[in-house]
Amino acid sequence: MDGLSRRRMLITGGTLGALGALGAASPAHARSLWTWAPSGSVAGEGAGVDPDWVWDEEADPVLAAVIDRGDVPKVNDALRKWTRNDQPLPSGLPADLRDFMEKARQLPSWTDRRKLEAAAQFTKKKGIYTGALYGLGSGLMSTAIPREARAVYYSKGGADMKDRIAKTARLGYDVGDLDAYQPQGGMIVTAVKTRLVHAAVRHLLPQSPGWSRTSGGQTIPISQADIMVTWHSLATFVMHKIKDWRIPVTTAESDGYLHVWQVTAHMLGVLDEYIPATWDEANAQSRQVLDPILASTPEGDELTRVLLDIVAELDAGLTRPLISAFSRYTLGDRTGDLIGLDREPFWQPLISAAWPLLVAFREGLIPLPLVPEAAWTVEEAIRRFVLLFLSEGRGIHLEIPDTNRPS
Ligand code: HEM
Repeated sequence: MDGLSRRRMLITGGTLGALGALGAASPAHARSLWTWAPSGSVAGEGAGVDPDWVWDEEADPVLAAVIDRGDVPKVNDALRKWTRNDQPLPSGLPADLRDFMEKARQLPSWTDRRKLEAAAQFTKKKGIYTGALYGLGSGLMSTAIPREARAVYYSKGGADMKDRIAKTARLGYDVGDLDAYQPQGGMIVTAVKTRLVHAAVRHLLPQSPGWSRTSGGQTIPISQADIMVTWHSLATFVMHKIKDWRIPVTTAESDGYLHVWQVTAHMLGVLDEYIPATWDEANAQSRQVLDPILASTPEGDELTRVLLDIVAELDAGLTRPLISAFSRYTLGDRTGDLIGLDREPFWQPLISAAWPLLVAFREGLIPLPLVPEAAWTVEEAIRRFVLLFLSEGRGIHLEIPDTNRPS
């Protein structure tokens, strides 16, 4: 996607998402038994193996070999030239990686173009909400997902959070892009590159003393279960809040939004038997894998602080209390407390009163005079936040890491 179309997305209030990519998972012992049945998946059947013990059988050995051969710089150079879905793979890739990527870039047979189109329309109309929810909901929630917080903290990108957020932002807005999975879009590229990054992290993190000390017995990070935890902190959470905020959504839009995330899970290497077929199935899986594992960790607290400091850079800290209050409003007190969000006695009651009115006005349900003046301050701050992260994501290339965070 070129600079111009990114700008168009900004103007139409495109999504941000991204931050959500920061995280996911749990201390191994906090998880409940896996009972979610493959009959509720897009595959409709499967072995039913607990996805906590499944990683990425196709990508992992290839990336381990690329790293061990010292091919990462060469591969990153080549990958920088690969930006559009319809572009052939760049020259200069090792044969094993190229073979894997040719396969990995194929959309699943169950891709439904009409649904993808409905998803794009949904983001176009509701981008201000999805942007705010990804950034200030999912993004911050990820710091309360212990496995994700630790993986992010101890991996190479953990040392430079601003850069990392910019990169992860990319996935969020590429998902919401009108062209996402169209030939001229970039989502296939972004998802395949992310799959490569995750496979590299699975090879590298077990060598990190910091990660091994805190991994709660997990020996390889980013299992399929972990990816679905993050997936729910993005897709399931956002749809839940959209409903909770009484934002009118048609069935076509809601199905479309589910579909774009189903396709994205597949493209990230999740097996079809773990991808929920319906929102009901998604909610059931989320209750099982996400809700019980949210917890506070030192690494997560540190990431929350860094994230909020970045927000404070917006305007010398003026909007930070507002943004914290909005996040607490969005995530609820339990998660707000877990990630150490300040309680904001001024902003919290104001946001709780004003936001529903603002939503109702934007959706044409109430007339302007019923919206309190202060609501516009809230909207302006949220909009600026979304724009900041979108602009951070411009012109970024996802790179395969070849080291962990320096300790
Ligand atoms: C990297 C998205 C799940 C840990 C990335 C990147 C994206 C992304 C776009 C590349 C950005 C970068 O290079 O910094 C996602 C999405 C997920 C997901 C959409 C699920 C739907 C997870 C999970 C974990 C995780 C479950 C850990 C438990 C990481 C780590 C990196 C990474 C450690 C590499 C950061 C580095 O370069 O050091 N992810 N991710 N991700 N992700 Fe994920």
